[in-house]
Amino acid sequence: MTKPSDFRPAIEDRSLELDAAAMRRLADAALERAIRHIESLPEQPAYVDTTEAIATSLDLIEPLPQGPSPLPELLDEIFDVHAPASYTTAGPGYLAYVPGGGLFQTAVADLISSSINRYSGVLSAAPGLVQLETNVIRWFGEIVGYPAGSSGFLASGGSLANLTAVVAARVDKLGEQFLDGTIYVSDQVHHCVAKAARIAGIPQANLKILPTDERFRLDPAAVEAAIVEDLARGCRPFLLVASAGTTNSGAVDPLSELAEVAERHGLWYHVDGAYGGFFALTERGRRALAGIERADSIVLDPHKGLFLPYGTGALLVKDKAVLEAVHSQGAEYMPRLQADPELVDPCEISPELSRPYRGLRVWLPFKLHGIEPFRRNLDEKLDLTLWITEKLRALPQIEILAEPQLSTLAFAVRATSGSEADTEGLTRALHAAILRRQRVHLTTTRLRGRYAIRICVLSFRTHLDRMEACLEDIEAGLAELPAGA
Ligand SMILES: Cc1ncc(COP(=O)(O)O)c(C=O)c1O
Repeated sequence: MTKPSDFRPAIEDRSLELDAAAMRRLADAALERAIRHIESLPEQPAYVDTTEAIATSLDLIEPLPQGPSPLPELLDEIFDVHAPASYTTAGPGYLAYVPGGGLFQTAVADLISSSINRYSGVLSAAPGLVQLETNVIRWFGEIVGYPAGSSGFLASGGSLANLTAVVAARVDKLGEQFLDGTIYVSDQVHHCVAKAARIAGIPQANLKILPTDERFRLDPAAVEAAIVEDLARGCRPFLLVASAGTTNSGAVDPLSELAEVAERHGLWYHVDGAYGGFFALTERGRRALAGIERADSIVLDPHKGLFLPYGTGALLVKDKAVLEAVHSQGAEYMPRLQADPELVDPCEISPELSRPYRGLRVWLPFKLHGIEPFRRNLDEKLDLTLWITEKLRALPQIEILAEPQLSTLAFAVRATSGSEADTEGLTRALHAAILRRQRVHLTTTRLRGRYAIRICVLSFRTHLDRMEACLEDIEAGLAELPAGA
């Protein structure tokens, strides 16, 4: 018999375990700065030119810390150096790209989720918490008019959710031989769909990018014609992606007519509602999004339309079995997964195993407030968008290039010469003048080649006062333009 070893670990390090007083000191200090930051959002510059910060960011490369640093110094660095040198995405003047805001209630939910650090990849590890997340998915299904029994999961964002939808469609419609499969999208679809197709192994030539109508909406007749042509060439059309609010101009594709086309040809019908899907909470949004419930899968982005901090997207599917066919994969070392069809093991229907517990991010604010304030906030955003559109329409130097269909519009300056180059030059100059005033952050795009300034109103912090400031700055910018506008 071997002699028992008298080896004893030489090290016992408990320094990472904070006692209650240290936890409070840490949390209180961070909270104090975070709250001060949030309170100062209305006064913070809405647009910050980050060019200099980018140029100096190489100076930030740090050695691996060998010893402790004092918390106040670290908080100063975060709040006084890095946060101010960034876009004020959480502020009321952020009308750029697609805003969201960042509900503090969700920040608190994250603190709780990370503090308790429960495992939500499998149901048996935290049945109650996983069920709360499943409830959130059910609520989302109810919002978009999905039938009971539909399923889905919370992802990190819309890109990952769209990718998972493309893979689900591929597996369901094509099986393992998929190189002849074709996908149909509009020329306005979010670029993450092309990326998803690439990651999913679909040849780029099989992504059929179809023209849109004068309101930037996918034309069902064009989809039909492309499918028929591809079938004749021996391709296998398998996926039609519609947008419920494009990023570029907020266009909503004709969701019902597209559903007809997809159904007629047996395609998977996916709706990317990352930007616009939650407008289904409002009466006007429901009208605009009619037909969304016919989709096989829908992407929603709570970090846009529900104002959450970044890090939460959602994929909804009508048929949970398709997600299981893609993601279900047992292993000897896994706890036994349950077999109740009513219950969900997130790892069986999504790509992640270990994952942040995202359920509370939506559950806590929904339960704290109920759904009404979310509905009212979205309705308010629709009103604010109409308000600024009408004010801009009244300005003779402005041409509206994209009328709002939800809460996004785009416009350009009219050049008296009528030349497109002059229009672009003046529009660029107006954009620079608006940003210089730092009260709103607007971004630019191209619509059918025409340079345009976009406004996207989606933050719960944006109200009429900031839209009035936006209008004032546009008017002041126009007054500064050189002759020719
Ligand atoms: C319509 C649309 N789809 C998808 C995405 C991608 O979502 P995420 O940035 O959450 O990955 C966006 C982002 O703006 C979007 O507007």
